[in-house]
Amino acid sequence: MNKSVLIVLILLLSSCAQMQSSFTTANATPSLFERIGGLPVLSVVVSETIDNSVNDPKIKRSFDGIKLTTLKQSVVDQLCVLTGGSCVYEGETMQNSHRDLKITTAEFELFVDAFRTSLNRHVGEREKNELLKILAPMKRDIVTD
Ligand code: HEM
Repeated sequence: MNKSVLIVLILLLSSCAQMQSSFTTANATPSLFERIGGLPVLSVVVSETIDNSVNDPKIKRSFDGIKLTTLKQSVVDQLCVLTGGSCVYEGETMQNSHRDLKITTAEFELFVDAFRTSLNRHVGEREKNELLKILAPMKRDIVTD
């Protein structure tokens, strides 16, 4: 085999390897974050959930005096990370941020109900259930009363 044939062969093999790796990336299972619709959908869901909670006489008391834009952004960042998005969450742990609020089980459930209602509007059944599964175990850190 002469030298130039060898070079062509090497080039061919390396471009095949590159194609293979880009196929693999394209076929990789999309994260929950991607399937939800990324930041635009996550932001709408978090915003609707918090607006709904702030207007619900049964749970609104915790949100008195809280800067809602900052809170919404923080929840979006956190859920982005937890669903596989490439955000950075710089807030407190769930335990630290909710400790003083003395949130009851009933309040937690109403909040998750608001989430479910919004998720029903914006994401598929499978994605809704996967996200609710991420929220459920947070109860032990959030409910303190
Ligand atoms: C699974 C459900 C919940 C999640 C994922 C969640 C998530 C968060 C996050 C990420 C923060 C921001 C922490 C920080 O920036 O340091 C936060 C703060 C807060 N959460 Fe929740 N939360 C949940 C349930 C609740 C419930 C049930 C209530 C009230 C009924 C509530 C009321 C608040 C309030 C008022 C703050 C602001 C606290 C402050 O700034 O002092 N959260 N939550």
